[in-house]
This record gives sequence, structure tokens and C-alpha cells, in this order.
Amino acid sequence: MSNSEELSDLRNQIKEVTNEIIRLVHNRMEIAKRIGNVKQELSIDVEDEQVENDIKESIIKLAKELGMDLEFSGKLLNILLLESVKVQNRKSDSHKISPHMAVFMKAKEMEKLGQNIFHLEVGEPDYAPPLSVRNELLKIYDDKKYHYTEISGIPRLRNAIAERTGYGTNSEQVLVTPGGRFAVFCAITSLLKPGDELINIEPSWPAYKECADFIGVKIRSLKTSLEDKWIPNVSKLENLVNANTKMIILNYPNNPTGKILPKNILDKIVSMSKDYNLFLLSDEVYSAYSFVDFTSLLEYECSKKITISSFSKTFGMTGFRVGYAISDKEIIRKMSSVQATSITSVAEPMQYCALMALESTIHDNVDLVKSRIDLITKRIRKMRTEFVYPDGAMYVYPKILSDVYKSDMALVKKLLENGVAIAPGSGFGSFYKHFIRISACQPETVLNQGLDIMERILTQG
Ligand SMILES: Cc1ncc(COP(=O)(O)O)c(C=O)c1O
Repeated sequence: MSNSEELSDLRNQIKEVTNEIIRLVHNRMEIAKRIGNVKQELSIDVEDEQVENDIKESIIKLAKELGMDLEFSGKLLNILLLESVKVQNRKSDSHKISPHMAVFMKAKEMEKLGQNIFHLEVGEPDYAPPLSVRNELLKIYDDKKYHYTEISGIPRLRNAIAERTGYGTNSEQVLVTPGGRFAVFCAITSLLKPGDELINIEPSWPAYKECADFIGVKIRSLKTSLEDKWIPNVSKLENLVNANTKMIILNYPNNPTGKILPKNILDKIVSMSKDYNLFLLSDEVYSAYSFVDFTSLLEYECSKKITISSFSKTFGMTGFRVGYAISDKEIIRKMSSVQATSITSVAEPMQYCALMALESTIHDNVDLVKSRIDLITKRIRKMRTEFVYPDGAMYVYPKILSDVYKSDMALVKKLLENGVAIAPGSGFGSFYKHFIRISACQPETVLNQGLDIMERILTQG
């Protein structure tokens, strides 16, 4: 056979094999649909980590036998797994709206009908931004600060953030984003690719998973428990690492538990992430609300670290949409490209407001949130709950011990019928169906009225 004949024969073979792969993938999707139907009949969750891990193990074994690249085979598997989840979710419709959002929307509907609702579910400070921000807002029009800016943010703001951050940070290591949420999005979408994996510690703010799902990155979750005081088990964390793992996400002080990691645990996680050459993304948007010592990831020497902060919670500026990421210059460059492609820059007026906010003190806000957390914990101690007193953030995350309300949704529904909106624990991970999250973002009178109703319901039940 001549070379050109051989080439033509091989091309035919590769075409046939590719066709066969597509036929098999189609077959797999049909089976996944049927699994989705059965799960719906049985009312069980679409995602089952144990089952996925079993498949992953068998794939690793096979790839080793065949001498195939482990990362590549793992990536293919992850793409297939994510497609199966999508197909099954389409059946159940359950993915369309998070339990937390569903409560919020229902509460808003009830308010429209004239019912008074105590909002203990929202994670948005009720206090105003600093007065210096108000004054800046009033001046911005006359000062003509309403143009496109540098993609990564105006130099004055980047410099001020770098200076305030310390640890020798320079302005090239700062990316100003429209909120901390977009900084998370920039990091995940610029550093990870479809089929890669990231490790997330639950219970967790749902945006990390939403963002990973959005670009086809597979999430591996490490569950933490109330019994372990929400401290992650580092050996279990290490066991989740495989050839496809690219990033670990940390969020301390944590939403929803309020946990702050003990320094020795953070030391171990940082050292492990270096051993495996992983990105370490630390979402520190609640760091101003630390009631015990807080160690930032900024303190560590680690070239693949990304730290995220925001003006939203610290200064009561949620609607201004200003947050930022601090990282290595090259990582910031990659993250900036997401911003350049999608939004050009953060609105200039908002960047100047953020600059003003940096000059103000926040002690009053922190004291206020702490005193509300004291109030909430004092009151729920007398109800049928169990919790760890928060080290920081703006929430209390108790376990409900009631014999009547055996799931968070049953209690959340009952509370809403009685005029109290509360975030279900399962919105932060399906494992936490006996928890609720109470937010300290409302005045004491509102908290007390909402908690009165909750006490009545829980002590009756
Ligand atoms: C853990 C965590 N990170 C980030 C954010 C995002 O805040 P923003 O986008 O308003 O800065 C939130 C908001 O609730 C949060 O809870």
C-alpha cells in the first residue's frame, strides 16, 4: 500500500470510529434520559456524587490499562457527566430556580397582594453607603466622570486598593469588577476550561457552582458539618484531587455558616494546593465582618492565588456593583480579558464612589451586624435549633431539630405563610435539608418580629 493509500485508509477508519463514538454518546444520552425519568418518579436528586465517582474510578482504571492520558479521559468523562445532568434536569425542571430565589420571589408576590413580610432571607445590608459616597455621587455629573475607563479600573482606584491591601501589592495585581460575583466569574471562566474540575466546600454560596456549570466545569464538593464546626477535613479534600482538578474555592468568613478557618487548616490547604499546582480562589467579601482573627490568603506566598473582595457588604454598596480581584499580574491579565470582552469596564461614576468609600471607616457597620447576630443567636437558642456561633459574615445557619418540620422547605413554607421569608439551608448544598439561614441584614425590630413568629411555629411543632 502506498503512503497516500494508507493515509486515505486511515482517514476512513478515523471517520468510522468518530461516527461510532457519536452513536455511543447518543445511546448514553438516551439512557440518561430514562434514568432522569426514574429519578423523578422516585423524587431523588439528579446529581449523585457516589455514582459519578464510581464511573470516574472505572474510567481511570481503563485509561491506565490503555495507556491513555488520564487528564484527557477525565475531561471527556466530565463533559459526558455534565450533559447527563443537563438532560435529567430538563425533565425535573428543578434547576430553573434556586430554592432561595423561589422564596424571595414568592415573598415579593405576597407583598404585592398587601401582606407584610419580614425579610430574614436577604443578604443585603440595610444601612446606607458612607456620606462621602453620597457627596461624590452629587459631584460626578459636573466633574464629567462618566466615560469608559481602563479595562481593569481607573488607576487611582487600583492604586488605592493595592495600598489598602498591603502585602506589597501593586496596582497591576488589581482588577476592579462589577461586584465580587463578576470577579468570581472572570476567574473561573478565564482560568478553567470545559471538562476541568474545581473543588468547592459546602455549604456554599451557590454562585460558584452556577458559574462552573455555565462553562462546563465539573464541581467536586467537600461537605463540612455542624458537628465538625464547619471545619473541612483536609485529607478528604486531598482525596478529591485528580488529574482534572484545577482550582479550590475558599469562602471565609463563610456564607452561610459564618465560619472562619483556623490558620493551621488554611496553612495545610495552601500547601496542598501548591503540591498539586492548583489555583486557589479565596472569596473574602465578608472579611470586614470578622469577629475572631481572620487570616487572608493574601498572607501566603503562592503564585496561583486569587483573592476576591467587594464594596457591597463592607460599605453597604450592593447596588453600586463594585468588587475586585487581587492576584498575580499574569492571572489578572487573563481575568481582564473576560471583562474586556463582556463589559469594557466598571461604570466610571461607581469607581469614583468606591474610591471615596475606601477612605471611610466601617466599624459601626461591623458592630451593628455583630449585635444583630448576638440577638438572633440568643433568641434561637430558646427554639429547637443547634448551631455554631458565627466567627464572621452576616448570617446564622442553624439546624432545625423539630419533629414536625422534617425538611427546610416544609419550615420555610410554613414561615412564609405566616409572613417570614427565610433562606432554606438546601440552597447552599442539597445535603443541608435540616438547616435554614437567618440574615442579620435587617433592623432589630424586624428581626424580633420575624423571630417571634418563628418561635411560635417551632415551639408549637
Ligand atoms: C460569598 C459571597 N461572595 C460574593 C458575593 C457577591 O457580592 P457582590 O457581587 O455584590 O460583590 C456574595 C453576595 O451575596 C457572597 O455571599
